[in-house]
Amino acid sequence: MNGDHPEDNLLIVRAFGAPDATASKMVGLDAHGGTWHVTDPSGEREVRVAWPSGAISERPEIRREVVALYHAACEKLGVPAREEHAPSAGAHGAHAHGAHGDAAAHGDAHGAAHPHGGGDAHGGGHPHAKPEDDGTFSFAIRSATWGDHGDSEGTTVMEDIMRMRAPIEVYTDLVVQHYFMYEALEAAAEQLAADPRYAALHPAALVREQQLAEDLELLLGEKWREKVQAVPATKAYADRIREVAAEGWLPGIIAHHYTRYLGDLSGGQMIAKRVKKQHGFDRAGVAFYDFTELGSIAEFKQTYRSILDELGESLDASERERMVDEVRAAYRFNTEVFLDMQNDRQSLAV
Ligand code: HEM
Repeated sequence: MNGDHPEDNLLIVRAFGAPDATASKMVGLDAHGGTWHVTDPSGEREVRVAWPSGAISERPEIRREVVALYHAACEKLGVPAREEHAPSAGAHGAHAHGAHGDAAAHGDAHGAAHPHGGGDAHGGGHPHAKPEDDGTFSFAIRSATWGDHGDSEGTTVMEDIMRMRAPIEVYTDLVVQHYFMYEALEAAAEQLAADPRYAALHPAALVREQQLAEDLELLLGEKWREKVQAVPATKAYADRIREVAAEGWLPGIIAHHYTRYLGDLSGGQMIAKRVKKQHGFDRAGVAFYDFTELGSIAEFKQTYRSILDELGESLDASERERMVDEVRAAYRFNTEVFLDMQNDRQSLAV
C-alpha cells in the first residue's frame, strides 16, 4: 500500500495511534496486524495496528483487513472513503516478515479476489469495506447505523480503554455491565437457536455466560455475584431485550444480537488486546473476548452477514426499517451505559 495510495498510511496511523503523524510508511505485517514507521512531532517510531477482525491465517484475508482498516480510519477521522475500491492491498515496499509478509507482497496480484469467492451474496471485494451500496441488507444495516457506532466508540469509557488509560475499576465495571446485558441477551437468543433459519447465528461457542463468570471471578473474587450492580441504562437495555423476546419478534432479537456479538468479534478483539497489554491478563479477565472455539472469526462474520441478507429478503421495507431502528436503539443503549458508568465515577470522585 506504500505504492498506489501512500496517503492511506497516514490516514490509518492518524486514526489508530499517531493522531499527529506527518509521515507514515508500512514496514511490516503479520497474522495479527500491520506495522507502520511514523514521523510525528515526538520524533520517529513504529506504530502497530491490529487487523480489525482479529488474527488472520489466509493470504486473501490481508487485502480484506487492509481495506477494513482503511475504511475504519476514514470513518474515525470523518474522511470520505474512495468510491471505487479499497486502498491498494498488499505491502509494496514493506519489509514484511515470514509467511504473512510474503503473502502481502503478492496481495495486489490477487487484488480482485474475494476471500469467499466472487459467487457469494456480495460479489467481489469486501462487502463491508465498500462505500457503495451493494444492495444487501447487512450493508444497509451497517451503513445506516455506523454513525451510532461512532457515538458508542467515541465515549470516554471506550476511548480510555482503547488508549490503555482506564483504571482497572472502569474495565471491571464494563465486564459487570456486560454480565447483565448478556444475561438478557442470551436468554432471548435461545429463541434463535430454536429456529432453524437462525440457529447458525447463535452457536454454543458464541455464548458468553461462562466466560463472563470467569472474568468476574478474577476481577472481583469468588463472591462476585454479591458485588455486581447494573447501572440504570443497563437495566433499561436488558428490559428492552426481554420485551423484544417476550413479543417473539425475531428480527428485533437479531438486531440486539448483531449489535453486541458482531461488535465483540470486531472492535471487541481490539479492546481485548489493549486490556491484556495494560493489565497483563492472559485469558482470565478477558475470556469474554476469546472466541477460539468459534473457529475463524472472519468466516463467522461472513456467514452472519449472509444470514442477515437472507433475513432482509424475507422482510418488507417497513419491517427492515423497524429492525434497523432497533439496531440504532441497541447502539444508543450501549452509549448510555458507558455514559452512566462515567457519571458514576464522577459522582464517586466528588
Ligand atoms: C473502542 C470501541 C470500538 C472500536 C475500536 C470498534 C471498532 C470496530 C471496527 C474497526 C469495526 C469494523 C470491522 C469490520 O469492518 O469488519 C467494528 C464493527 C462493529 N462494531 Fe465496533 N468498535 C467499538 C465499539 C463498539 C461498540 C460499543 C459496539 C456495540 C455494542 C460495536 C459494535 C460493532 C458492530 C455491530 C460491528 C459490525 C458492523 C458490521 O460490519 O455490520 N462496536 N467495530
